[in-house]
Amino acid sequence: MPGVRGPSDYSQEPPRHPCLKINSKDPFNAEPPRSALISSYVTPVDFFYKRNHGPIPIVDDIERYCVSISGLVENPKELFMKDIRMLPKYDVAATLQCAGNRRTAMSETRKVKGVGWDVSAIGNAVWGGAKLADVLELVGISKLTSTTQSGGKHVEFVSIDKCKEENGGPYKASIPLSQATNPEADVLLAYEMNGETLNRDHGYPLRVIVPGVIGARSVKWLDSISVVTEECQGFFMQKDYKMFPPSVDWDNINWSTRRAQMDFPVQSAICSLEDVSAIKPGKIKVSGYAASGGGRGIERVDVSVDGGQTWMEASRYQRTGIPYIAGDISSDKWAWVLFEFTVDVMHNTEIVAKAVDIAANVQPEKVQDIWNLRGILNTSWHRVQVRVGHSNL
Ligand code: MTE
Repeated sequence: MPGVRGPSDYSQEPPRHPCLKINSKDPFNAEPPRSALISSYVTPVDFFYKRNHGPIPIVDDIERYCVSISGLVENPKELFMKDIRMLPKYDVAATLQCAGNRRTAMSETRKVKGVGWDVSAIGNAVWGGAKLADVLELVGISKLTSTTQSGGKHVEFVSIDKCKEENGGPYKASIPLSQATNPEADVLLAYEMNGETLNRDHGYPLRVIVPGVIGARSVKWLDSISVVTEECQGFFMQKDYKMFPPSVDWDNINWSTRRAQMDFPVQSAICSLEDVSAIKPGKIKVSGYAASGGGRGIERVDVSVDGGQTWMEASRYQRTGIPYIAGDISSDKWAWVLFEFTVDVMHNTEIVAKAVDIAANVQPEKVQDIWNLRGILNTSWHRVQVRVGHSNL
């Protein structure tokens, strides 16, 4: 495409905030310190985790940038940014979480393959853009369609970036057509993040946002959309981001036996304390985030100060004066809650958090029970150790 480049090396990466903890430099994968996540309900762009599989694309001629929509559609089209901006704009507050969030902790019980992450491969942003359901109407697909007349059942998103997992080809993923054409699923082609033009790291000029689904399906730097019969056959849908049982290892893995992971499960983490924190005896504030996928809101967050023997309910808060889901202030389904609990701690102990979603799904206790060779979806109870010092700290 003219005016668009997918560089093959890392010499033209954008500037990034120095506070980010870099988990891999090329491709750039980084997360903010825990404390940054709880300092505001909407995660500032600079502190939002960055998850890449190749060099960041460069779009230097926005007038010529366009997205082609083709495949099993009646009227294939090329849409320029002005066409997309002409559609109704929605601001959707949604939490994006990488399936690899908390992988480092899973790796500590038994080695897994993949970039290590602490608890901050997650962020909550207000995404602005057109609904995919409206975009697909432009090529002749009505709202709430699960199969097109010519047999299209999935919507594939292909990016501009090049990654080694695709042998130098573009990153891609797909979602079911029924989700793509459902206005209530709030799938966006987003051009804004927190009210600003999307920046290069997060997908400038246009990315997909699939709320409630692992981050891997929210394709950045969109190049084309195609309506297809079968799920995308790309690496990240077929040979990655699938959940395996603890018994499967690299010698007996059969990727085709498992589905591509879509919704993420209920998750929470304490962000006011590190894995091991030294404190003075007395009151401490335990705070963090909780989120669940698939549009399931958070029902409750429980905190324990005795390693999980007894629990108390934390207070939760959400949405302070931000534009909300598809303009509907009563809906909290895609965005996280932050929780808070103040407690007296006089002795060394383990503080634990677990969340419950509105379907009463609860985080599993032990990481061992959900261990998987790719180290995805570590949603086990989040534990931190506090060491109480009685002398001057
Ligand atoms: N899209 C493209 N084109 N290339 C990528 O490497 N990474 C995916 C997804 N979309 C990726 C992509 C993954 S695994 C995640 S978790 C999210 O983008 C991360 O989005 P962020 O960097 O904006 O936080």
